[in-house]
Amino acid sequence: MQDDKTFSAPAAPAARRPAAPMAEPVPEAMTLLLTRRSVVAAKLGAPGPAADELRRILTAAARVPDHKKLVPWRFILFEGEAREAFGRVLADACAAEAAEPASPVRLETEAARFLRAPVVVAVISRIARENVVPEWEQILSAGAACQNLLLAAHAAGYAAQWITEWYAYSPRVRAALGLDERERVAGFVYIGTAREAPTERPRPALDDIVTRWTGPRARRDAEGT
Ligand SMILES: Cc1cc2nc3c(=O)[nH]c(=O)nc-3n(C[C@H](O)[C@H](O)[C@H](O)COP(=O)(O)O)c2cc1C
Repeated sequence: MQDDKTFSAPAAPAARRPAAPMAEPVPEAMTLLLTRRSVVAAKLGAPGPAADELRRILTAAARVPDHKKLVPWRFILFEGEAREAFGRVLADACAAEAAEPASPVRLETEAARFLRAPVVVAVISRIARENVVPEWEQILSAGAACQNLLLAAHAAGYAAQWITEWYAYSPRVRAALGLDERERVAGFVYIGTAREAPTERPRPALDDIVTRWTGPRARRDAEGT
């Protein structure tokens, strides 16, 4: 993996070289897209991706559509002892912000949250306000980064879950993450090894979510269709 040029090539100067061979079917990629499932954080365990694998996963996460190349997202990694230290931040924030006084059990749960997986990646959506690209599009790009992170983790042989939980919105946690006013947590992506295989969940029927455009709505309504 280390010999992959993706790691050593600087992002900007590489822009003019061909991105990839001309499109050909990649059945394995389609299988991944059609079968990927999240594994809940509580069912993740070691091992997590090694440093070179994580770099590759993050490289894939950063390869998303991004109108005007604003890079409206960044990643914060939690590994090893940092997960425990962040747990103390979560417990303190919970104690200070919970509507009802937090029980000792609740505080223990919060302190252990980031220990559920060997690697947690906070995906931070950041808005370049001075730019002309609508905020909505910049936020969508951050969502795409989260999804690529999930897919890349899965493609590398790991399991993952994209969650926000309460602490994505906690003022104290935001401060501990060093977020400025243009930044928001798009998700915490927990990455590890599944301790048990996930079961399938219902998916929307395509008939319920796909339509074909057949002309302006007003005209069709007037025609009684
Ligand atoms: C932005 C976002 C936030 C989410 N936050 C949570 C959460 O806090 N807790 C949770 O149990 N699931 C959360 N989910 C859902 C999980 O990712 C869930 O496991 C996933 O939707 C399962 O679908 P999948 O099998 O297609 O991956 C969130 C999903 C998204 C897109």
